[in-house]
Parts: sequence; C-alpha cells; structure tokens
Amino acid sequence: MTDTLTKLAYQTVQQGKSAFGLAHKTLSAQMLSFFSPAPEDRQTDSLPVDVLALIRQRLNILLETDWHDAEQGVYPAELLFDNPWDDFFRFYPLLVMDMPAIWERAKQKRHQDFDKAINTEAYPSYYLQNFHHQTNGYLSDLSANLYDLQVEILFNGSADAMRRRVLAPLKQGLAAFSTVLPSQLRVLDVACGTGRTLRFVRGILPQASLYGTDLSPAYLRKANHHLSQLPGELPQLAQANAEELPYQDGYFHGITCVFLFHELPPAARQAVIDQCFRVLKPGGTLVICDSIQESDSPEFAVTMRNFPKMFHEPYYRHYVTDDLVKRLETSGFTVEPTVTHFMSKYWVAHKPV
Ligand SMILES: C[S@@+](CC[C@H](N)C(=O)[O-])C[C@H]1O[C@@H](n2cnc3c(N)ncnc32)[C@H](O)[C@@H]1O
Repeated sequence: MTDTLTKLAYQTVQQGKSAFGLAHKTLSAQMLSFFSPAPEDRQTDSLPVDVLALIRQRLNILLETDWHDAEQGVYPAELLFDNPWDDFFRFYPLLVMDMPAIWERAKQKRHQDFDKAINTEAYPSYYLQNFHHQTNGYLSDLSANLYDLQVEILFNGSADAMRRRVLAPLKQGLAAFSTVLPSQLRVLDVACGTGRTLRFVRGILPQASLYGTDLSPAYLRKANHHLSQLPGELPQLAQANAEELPYQDGYFHGITCVFLFHELPPAARQAVIDQCFRVLKPGGTLVICDSIQESDSPEFAVTMRNFPKMFHEPYYRHYVTDDLVKRLETSGFTVEPTVTHFMSKYWVAHKPV
C-alpha cells in the first residue's frame, strides 16, 4: 500500500513537472516567434506526430525504470522526490525576466558574450560560449541559479531521472572493491555543475568520500550550497579543467560524468577520457551519461537536428556522430554495451586490473 501511494505520488509530481515544462516551452516559443522570429538557419523542423508519441513513450519508460530502481533498493525512494522547490519558486521569475536578453543575444548571434566584470582569462577558449544562450555562459551566479530549472524545463522534468541512471552501473562497478571499507571508497563526479549527481551518489554511498570538479566557480558555489545541506561528510569540490584533473594516478574507485561531452570539442573529449583513465584505480569504473547519438537513436534524428539550432551548442553536431566507445578503448578502458534512456545515453567503462 505504501509503495502504491509512493509510486502514485512520484508519478503525480513527474506529470506536474512534465506539464509545466511543456507549457513553459510552448509559451516561450510563441513569444519568441512573435518578438524575435528565427532567421532561416535557426528555423527548426516540426516534430512528426509519431516522434512526439515516441518521446512520450520513452519518457514514461524512463520514469518506470527510475521507480523500479528505487523499489529494488538501488537507491532510496527519497531520491525520487529530491526536487529543489525553493529554487524553483525563487528563481523561476528571474528565468522569465532573463528571456528577452537571451532572445536578443540569439537574434544577434552573440555567442561569446560576457560581462566586462567577468574574468575570462583562465578558461579554455572552447568554454567561453553562451551555451544554451545562457547569460554569461557558465560564469555567473545568476546562470548557476537558473541552470537546474532550465534543464528541467528542457527535459520535461526528467533530467534527474536521467542522472540517476548512472547509479546502478556505478554501484555494480564499485562491487569490485567489496573488501574496501565503505568509508574508504572515493568517487569523483567530473563537471559536477550544481551538484545534482553528487546528491544522488551520496544517496547510495552515505559514507564514501565524494569529490566534484567543474570549471565554473559559480556552479561550484551553488553545488556547495546544496551539498552542504546533506548529512554526512561534505563532498570535496575543486575548480579544475576536466582535461587536467588535480588528483594523483589511481586515486578513485569510481567516476561519473553527466552531460559534459556534448559541450566539448573532439580533442577535449579524448583528453577528459584519458584523465579519467589516469585517476581511476585498476578495476575502477567510469560511467558517462550524455545525449543520445545518431547511431543508436535514428528515430530522434529530428530532435538532434533541432537541438543545436534552438540552443547554442557549438560542439553538439560533431558529438552526435562521435564514437566514444572507440575513444574509451583508445585510453585503455574495456567498455560495456551502451544503453539509452529517453534522451540520454550511457557508457560504462572499466579500467583493467
Ligand atoms: C551541461 S553542464 C552539466 C552539469 C552537471 N553535470 C549536470 O548534470 O547538470 C556542463 C558542465 O560542464 C562544465 N564544464 C564544461 N567544460 C568543462 C571542462 N573542460 N572542465 C570542467 N568542467 C567543464 C560546465 O561548467 C558545466 O557545469
């Protein structure tokens, strides 16, 4: 009975988030086409009815899987309800107020537009982009405050369910270290952003030492704010380029990396994978979650074409054809068959013993 009620509550919350995401996107698309019609190169293809039905179906399957994993004890059911509602009420108005500036920048094709007060010197040039047309890219506190909301809206409230899909393979991978005390396990989340994935990893590993790196000081501040509210040891956060991880060789038992690779140029993708290989222990596991690609999801070709037109994503077109399995094997990993969930794809790679 409790399970039935919990499932019902989860489904209701998800339906609400999905309806809200859809309503926001429909309204903002109408306002955008009225105030700032897209030039030809940004016009998107409309989604055929069968693709829309498939999207709905895959979203439902993702939510069923999310529920099933919680029910099976892969993670506590509380994680299903880990929604930053305070942020939603506080920052949704700011997100709406930021929209005209976003439209204007998109219209004028200003894709590397940063306030003068922001010091951009310390970053790789590929990073200095207004990804998703975000005001000041990843380099402001406003951007960090709005990011989770923007991603939730983009994925109709399913971003966290996709992030949680790294937990089962991570847990399975860590089973290789069954003789290590839970408090001695070390897990790193590369490009941790605002810390959503680390919150979920903490849910399955209450005693482990958790680490997170990101290039954005503002996103790390936000991650620190959220993660410091959790019981247990505070994850150690460090500002670092994922191409040069500041850890010694063989330090981690597990590594996760969520939604980073589509925002990297090809050479950086390889460099990040090489670094993950270096800092993993032999027998350690890397779990990558990122966008679906052309090879596994041809039925969503139209959404993959539309995505970089609607959101500034300069490396996405190359990403959707990039063979990450080959890249992982080049670094020395053995790679499990990839899987997809809704709009995301997963690579589980092991460093040979
Ligand atoms: C799309 S966000 C994903 C954030 C987070 N993992 C999530 O699940 O929401 C991409 C993140 O990667 C970070 N990033 C991009 N390039 C990076 C690099 N070379 N090194 C470290 N972090 C990077 C950005 O600052 C941003 O926080």
